[in-house]
Amino acid sequence: MTVPERPNGRATPRLEAELKVTGAARYAAEQTVQGLLHAALVQADVPSGVVRNVDATAALAMPGVVALLWHANAPRVRNGGFLALLQDATVHFAGQPVALVIAESPQQALRAAAAVKVDIEPAPAITAMNAALGEVVSPKEAAGGVAVDSRRGEPERELTQAAHVLAQRYTTPTHNHLPLEPHAVVTHWEQGRLTVHTSTQAVFGSRRILAHCFDLPPERVRVVAQYVGGGFGSKGRAWFPALVLGVMAARHVQRPVRLELTRAQMFCVVGRRQETVQDLKIGMDADGRLRAIVHDALAQTSTFAEHLDPVATPSRVLYGCAHVATTQRLVRVNAPQPNPMRAPGEGPGSFALESALDELAHRLDIDPLELRLRNLAERDMHTDLPWSSNGLETCLRVAADAFGWSRRPRKPQQWQQNHSWVGWGMASALYPVFRMACEASVGLSREGVVCVRCGTQDIGTGTLTVLAQIAAEAVGVPLAAVQVELGDTDLPEGPYSGGSIATASFTPAVEEAARGLKKRILANVVADPDSPLYGLASDQVTLVEGLLHSRIDTRRQTLAAWAATPAAQGLQVHARTAPAERPAYSAYGFGAVFAEVHVDATLGTVRVTRITAAYAAGRILNPMLARSQYVGGLVGGIGMALHEATLMDQASGRVVNTSLSDYLVPVHADMPRFDIHIVEEDDPHLAGGIKGIGMLGTVGTAAAIANAVFHATGRRLRDLPIRLEHLL
Ligand code: MOS
Repeated sequence: MTVPERPNGRATPRLEAELKVTGAARYAAEQTVQGLLHAALVQADVPSGVVRNVDATAALAMPGVVALLWHANAPRVRNGGFLALLQDATVHFAGQPVALVIAESPQQALRAAAAVKVDIEPAPAITAMNAALGEVVSPKEAAGGVAVDSRRGEPERELTQAAHVLAQRYTTPTHNHLPLEPHAVVTHWEQGRLTVHTSTQAVFGSRRILAHCFDLPPERVRVVAQYVGGGFGSKGRAWFPALVLGVMAARHVQRPVRLELTRAQMFCVVGRRQETVQDLKIGMDADGRLRAIVHDALAQTSTFAEHLDPVATPSRVLYGCAHVATTQRLVRVNAPQPNPMRAPGEGPGSFALESALDELAHRLDIDPLELRLRNLAERDMHTDLPWSSNGLETCLRVAADAFGWSRRPRKPQQWQQNHSWVGWGMASALYPVFRMACEASVGLSREGVVCVRCGTQDIGTGTLTVLAQIAAEAVGVPLAAVQVELGDTDLPEGPYSGGSIATASFTPAVEEAARGLKKRILANVVADPDSPLYGLASDQVTLVEGLLHSRIDTRRQTLAAWAATPAAQGLQVHARTAPAERPAYSAYGFGAVFAEVHVDATLGTVRVTRITAAYAAGRILNPMLARSQYVGGLVGGIGMALHEATLMDQASGRVVNTSLSDYLVPVHADMPRFDIHIVEEDDPHLAGGIKGIGMLGTVGTAAAIANAVFHATGRRLRDLPIRLEHLL
């Protein structure tokens, strides 16, 4: 399917778009509550140590300051399974919150926070991965329950017998998520209940944590996230420690409190993509068939908790190879706790694998696309399960054709345009299908509006819009006749928005509830003596575009007219769906990304001028929003390739580039032309046919760009990001 960039049928723009661009949409930090106080964090300025004292004298004397909390006076909270802030004296990383000031205005709180004197007895710290390489940690599992190590066949033996062996190290840096909307919480008590407006990827997850930490029954906690300005992984667990502080402050002062992170705090307080060092050994036969892969990944974690992204997944799963061994290990650094960030694991892991395959293609003088096509996997060799569906080959061919790949000169550094070297590179992409249980209800109002209620949240992806679309189609009403409620724990429990989970999880539940409602409507209308359709069998009527009509004659009635009548009142259907405990198929979304770069021959600056990508990720509900998700993912991939890196000063242990002018992200001027192709799949093994699409665009993209840089310049760069100083 070619993807429309303009509205067209299912390609509907976000329903809340106007509210957002006019500023009418209220985000968490914009909630106004009577008597609201404002909190500000005080952060440790050393990477390791013990807080001896917090001198609040000056701060408390400042105008408007109401209270100051630190570990000596902060209320105790139950352990939530993450770093509890202000509960003890230990400092684990620079930037760790060690005190909290509460004041009448945000400016007063920030000014007072700057005046707080924190006395920390410093301790020795490890401030870089290479300073910690001696002590390697084996975590229990990778994120998502993925196994840490894997082994099939005899990879070491096969490496000794392969015609070609490539052994290289690839590195990826720390990244920060940096959603546009800073993390925020506004909390107050309302009729004996704690109400928490917060910017979160999981209203129910947040409620569970707050109820636990403050020892409250869950029904006494309400979490609301009506609009969320992006998350990319940082508004899940990573936000919980500071979220708890915001609620703790409100309980302590017995008044509503607002806490909003500053941009600089977002670099230390709400997680990061972990730095990786990846050693790859690949054995290949002379004809370009994979013989063995050994992938050993090392990644940063904090000194107080373990986190491992599934970095080795591409090496285990993407291609057919009988002999594969992977290991994943951690080293502890006095740095913030890493957590998932868009395409966690598969993003950095695919950079290594897809770069290495490009190196082998060059060495064997085989076209890089042809090399992939020779190594397609007939089944998932890691789990030994058949694919639910696998669109990799189609994606590779569709994107290659659209890109014009067959015109690519085989050798690097062949091609100059104006003052630049031009290069083309490509890579494959995959991301697993995850799903959660989901509850939803769909009802009919007296006004004839179909009301969808689901306690998931829209983090900017278009969740609200597709919820409405699914219900409109399943019930048989126009989109304008649907109203969606989400982002509130007073609704039926919906899924987390992360890991491309949400749409795959709520679609089956909403479709089941919506179909149930349609059935009830049809049954009730034929039993309603006041309806013109009275007396027909329920399968002799149907509901299309809001019109109830007979299939056998011309009798009809609008749903809106019938909805106001007594027989239509109180119609609501609730559904709960859950994924199979032990799936019989291996389910992944796949993709292929082709990039063109221009590298300035004198300055070494890299511009991505064109990206063509094809994705096969099951059924697509809204091609316009899907395209937007893929573009967003690809932009993240461009950032990974050329711009983003969180830098820590090894001497002080502090993050040094804590602003959007020092931490580079791709901007409009960096954008290439995007040509996105959606390969529609009808996957009968997945409920609703949905695979999830949010992560896919970021997988493989950095490798495709690095491979294009090699093709342009003959320079193989194995460390991200690729900057002009590497190309001079
Ligand atoms: Mo995510 S990176 O699971 O929001």
